[in-house]
Amino acid sequence: MTQSTYWNRIADKAKKEHRPFFSLAPMEAVTGSVFRRVVAKAAAPDVFYTEFTNALSITHPLAKEATKGRLYIDPKENPKPIVQLWGNKGENFTKAVKEVKKQGYEAIDLNMGCPDIAVIKNHSGSDLIRHFDTAKEVIEGARQTDLPVTVKTRLGYSEIEEFETWIPFLLKKQVPVLTVHVRTREEMSKVPAHYELIDQLVQMRDTYAPDTLLQINGDIADYQAGIKLASEHPGVDGIMIGRGIFTNPFAFEKEPKVHSSEELLGLLRYQLDLYDEFVAKGIPGHFAPLQRFFKVYVRGMKHAAEIRNDLMQTKTTDDARVVIERIENGEY
Ligand SMILES: Cc1cc2nc3c(=O)[nH]c(=O)nc-3n(C[C@H](O)[C@H](O)[C@H](O)COP(=O)(O)O)c2cc1C
Repeated sequence: MTQSTYWNRIADKAKKEHRPFFSLAPMEAVTGSVFRRVVAKAAAPDVFYTEFTNALSITHPLAKEATKGRLYIDPKENPKPIVQLWGNKGENFTKAVKEVKKQGYEAIDLNMGCPDIAVIKNHSGSDLIRHFDTAKEVIEGARQTDLPVTVKTRLGYSEIEEFETWIPFLLKKQVPVLTVHVRTREEMSKVPAHYELIDQLVQMRDTYAPDTLLQINGDIADYQAGIKLASEHPGVDGIMIGRGIFTNPFAFEKEPKVHSSEELLGLLRYQLDLYDEFVAKGIPGHFAPLQRFFKVYVRGMKHAAEIRNDLMQTKTTDDARVVIERIENGEY
């Protein structure tokens, strides 16, 4: 599939429905195969991303085993996720993209926005905003298959004004999609997203790369908020939602509904079952990251704090099922 065919298919479908396309943001220790399937069951976005995976690790003899869980795609996943890669050396990306293509991935996204200090010390993630040459090398290194290569980034590293040079630089690379988390690295997620700059981003896109799809990310709670934001900023093609999914697992629902406790607990049970399935396949999995989701399903319930506390004490999926049964038996 050519660079643009993959993404045009997604954008065209959304355009026919007079809406932007929607994505679940890549989130480390969150958007693995299990959680992607849970979101797909609740209300699926158009696009899923994997957690970010280090490009070098994918083919490194000592590290590649550990990337198996991150890269695992379940045969039942539809659509397949886009793999997000991070790193700083073109040659590592060249090897990694060939490997992920072999594994069945159809599109690649490059992380140029991660604010984590360990990633920055590795001269990767948002550090690339300060090193255009490395960013160029990474993009070129990743373009060594026929898979489309997109970029997710922030406005700048320390100053907002950096977007005036950084964004045109990326657009001139004619990436099929540019996703912008509308904050700087230094702002982390501590200040409101800079929606006031979206129209300028659209203008830049129209000037430098009219074929590039512009996806906006940052503080967008759900589908309705995304529709509103896109209607206020014509020219925005895509909406990416991250943390909104922690508040509402049905964040991508087109018609918002009230969801009963039974439905939410059903989703939690589904996640526990999928996790057991995942581990039974011999893929390295960890129970602790699963716990971060428990609060998602019990929010708003009577005695939510106590239930959450009990869920956090669990050590196995069966322990968690016992807590669910206690909720259902009215023991809280
Ligand atoms: C737990 C967590 C993990 C994240 N991991 C990644 C990641 O692997 N790759 C990435 O590009 N961004 C990552 N992000 C950033 C999100 O993709 C997104 O840009 C950010 O949360 C802002 O969007 P939001 O306000 O909708 O959450 C992560 C964010 C969170 C909260």
